Amino acid sequence: MKPRIEAGVLGATGMVGQQFVEFLQGHPWFELAWLGASDRSAGKKYAEAAPWRLAGAMPDSAAGLTVEECKPGAAPRLLFSAMDAAVATEIERAFAAAGHIVVSNSRNHRMEPDVPLVVPEVNAEHLQLLTEQRRRRGWRGRIVTNPNCSTVVLAMSLAPLRPFGIRRVVATTLQAISGAGYPGVASLDITANVIPFIAGEEEKMQQETQKILGALAGNRVEPLAACVSAHCNRVPVLNGHTVTVSVELEGRPGVEEVRAAFEGFSGVPQQRRLPSAPARPVVYMAEADRPQPQRDAARDRGMTVFVGRLRECAVLTHKYVALGHNTIRGAAGAAVLNAELLHSEGLLGS
Ligand SMILES: NC(=O)c1ccc[n+]([C@@H]2O[C@H](COP(=O)([O-])OP(=O)(O)OC[C@H]3O[C@@H](n4cnc5c(N)ncnc54)[C@H](OP(=O)(O)O)[C@@H]3O)[C@@H](O)[C@H]2O)c1
Repeated sequence: MKPRIEAGVLGATGMVGQQFVEFLQGHPWFELAWLGASDRSAGKKYAEAAPWRLAGAMPDSAAGLTVEECKPGAAPRLLFSAMDAAVATEIERAFAAAGHIVVSNSRNHRMEPDVPLVVPEVNAEHLQLLTEQRRRRGWRGRIVTNPNCSTVVLAMSLAPLRPFGIRRVVATTLQAISGAGYPGVASLDITANVIPFIAGEEEKMQQETQKILGALAGNRVEPLAACVSAHCNRVPVLNGHTVTVSVELEGRPGVEEVRAAFEGFSGVPQQRRLPSAPARPVVYMAEADRPQPQRDAARDRGMTVFVGRLRECAVLTHKYVALGHNTIRGAAGAAVLNAELLHSEGLLGS
């Protein structure tokens, strides 16, 4: 058996950091060897620094590790980042400059033109931006990002429709509470209620979707020309972001053709059998009342996007529902799949 590649987590004590710790348990390629957080946590054992917020017990292999400060030095070359957005820009850059491969879940670098924003099934070829990143920044390492947790659901559901020509998209989210981190939204605000505002979320969904579905043109990405309009809502659901989508498809395909496109969709992670790749990235559910977050979001290790209720739209051309697990496909699982893609491209090096 080949030795596993050592990996660390920046922001390991937070909600997403804990998801990384959990998701990396038993990973066949990557071994969790280093945990970083703020100076409030540095020097403590992980068990002491990070009150465990996920179901089940904290993994023993992480509990005894000492949390380090997020400064380049002794950390492994491969680092997953779940840093607080308020500090991620400078810290991620410092690690990249020092030669680390930073696979980040934070929003800070996603829209920078030389930083790949990758969903491996959708735009694996955008990793070519790394050549431009190295040329412009002079870093010995790299930064690669994954999208916001609701964007990934929308982008994965739209990707199979690209051959029909996507012209306009209206997407309305019903976003789980866990997407707001811990302690998140106050219980008095979210219990039996809907909050029709999530700061910055609509802009992220619109811009990130256009970048992910955009075409690589030399050393940059030409964003998808389609208009994307998002409405974002927080709802009293624990895990799983639901997105209802209306889309105008230029080719005006029949409903059965669109359904066949969802069902036939596959990508590089499936071809290369990457360890965290779901068997099918998009699964169409024929039942009239599915997908549902409580029943479906966590299936297939939380890495699949479920689509259903495809029908004609009287305003655009088609409409459907999509669902994905926000802290797995929308956070830790997405970044681990990106690292697997990098490794399969030979980009993790030695
Ligand atoms: N929650 C989600 O579902 C979700 C989904 C997608 C993306 N995201 C993004 O993922 C990132 C993390 O989110 P989260 O909800 O996990 O946040 P969080 O629970 O607040 O955790 C933030 C982490 O950053 C560390 N940190 C804070 N200040 C630091 C500093 N000066 N130096 C080093 N480390 C520092 C914290 O360490 P201490 O414990 O020591 O303070 C903690 O480990 C954010 O950028 C967020 O936007 C979150």
